[in-house]
Amino acid sequence: MMTDKPCSASSMLGLYIHVPFCSQKCLYCNFFSVRYNDVLANKYVCALSRHAAKFKGKKIDSVYIGGGTPSVLSLRQLQQLSQSLHGTFDISEVREFTFELNPESVSKEKLRFLREIGVNRLSVGLQSVEDMSLKFLGRLHDFKTFCSVYDMARKENFDNINIDLIYGLPNQTLRDWEQVIKKTLAFNSEHLSLYPLSVERNTPFYRSNVITCDDVQRHMYDRAAEDLANKGYIHYEVSNWSKQNRESFHNTNYWRNFEYLGLGAGAAGYLGRERYKNIEDVSRYVDLLKDGCNVEIENEYIDGKIYEVETIILGLRLLNEGLDVSYFKKPKHYSVLLECLEDGTLKIEYDKVKLTEKCVFIFNHIASKFV
Ligand SMILES: C[S@@+](CC[C@H](N)C(=O)[O-])C[C@H]1O[C@@H](n2cnc3c(N)ncnc32)[C@H](O)[C@@H]1O
Ligand code: SF4
Repeated sequence: MMTDKPCSASSMLGLYIHVPFCSQKCLYCNFFSVRYNDVLANKYVCALSRHAAKFKGKKIDSVYIGGGTPSVLSLRQLQQLSQSLHGTFDISEVREFTFELNPESVSKEKLRFLREIGVNRLSVGLQSVEDMSLKFLGRLHDFKTFCSVYDMARKENFDNINIDLIYGLPNQTLRDWEQVIKKTLAFNSEHLSLYPLSVERNTPFYRSNVITCDDVQRHMYDRAAEDLANKGYIHYEVSNWSKQNRESFHNTNYWRNFEYLGLGAGAAGYLGRERYKNIEDVSRYVDLLKDGCNVEIENEYIDGKIYEVETIILGLRLLNEGLDVSYFKKPKHYSVLLECLEDGTLKIEYDKVKLTEKCVFIFNHIASKFV
């Protein structure tokens, strides 16, 4: 039945662990994180271990430690985190284990330790190669620091690295962006994530009225797509490019609407037919777990109807994989599909519905028609 989850969905389980600490908040960012403090981070790592214990014995296929800034944790805290991970879950067959790094908080010792505990993929936030832009964004690192961290990671045998970039900053010209792409491509990383700057509420950028331009961002996106294709990168998701067979397995399973556990303050999870979100307050998260209480603050039952819409919206993000045409049987979805086929925003290839290349940049607009 179309409304049932595909059986492969129930046999794949990802694990996301949120580390909600940053050395300093970037001026554009509204992800949940607070300023790093050693005492609170020690308590947090203990709380994560208590939280994990609730899922003892679960078999995990992929792990993603993200933030915030996971690399801001001390070596000692990383060791403790790894102990609870290895002691709680069955991670013997984890295929991909990603760890997010911010260049200013990386050391050789941390990288070596991460490699030892099974991390086989790194995601590094570069954002820009121009020191002026990095300053403008409120980043703590410069380009030189990124270069030495990247080099260190290669020396520690990391052969699967993602680089995050942000484009369409105010005053950034197409020529500037071409230089960012050129210098980034020189690293020959296995994966690239490119995001148009989005001015989010509750950020200093929002309060100081930073303005971005859709048209400029669109041109920048087009240029990147062309340059990356010329270098052999496959555009497999709206904002993600990779070398052959280097797509993020963990993230791809989100887009396939598969299940995942979310540990940590502010993390979301999706288990059985329920989506949940953990409390976005580090101290409360720590205290609740100490008292043996529940940290989930939002729970939503995903019925067949919600599941179908979510699967369509997430699945269309996978540009090459697409989504089986059978997901569009409902009259509303079918008529939107026909409309999109007619106006050329979607296409069908071997029974898979896919976004057309020219419409990737306006994905959100197309997705909203199915809601
Ligand atoms: C969850 S963040 C954390 C990654 C890591 N802490 C860092 O800053 O490098 C993942 C990525 O989202 C992107 N991002 C965050 N806020 C953004 C915004 N307002 N506009 C565009 N991209 C954003 C950045 O590229 C960032 O590296
Ligand atoms: S972009 Fe990354 S480092 Fe900057 S505040 Fe957000 S999570 Fe922290």
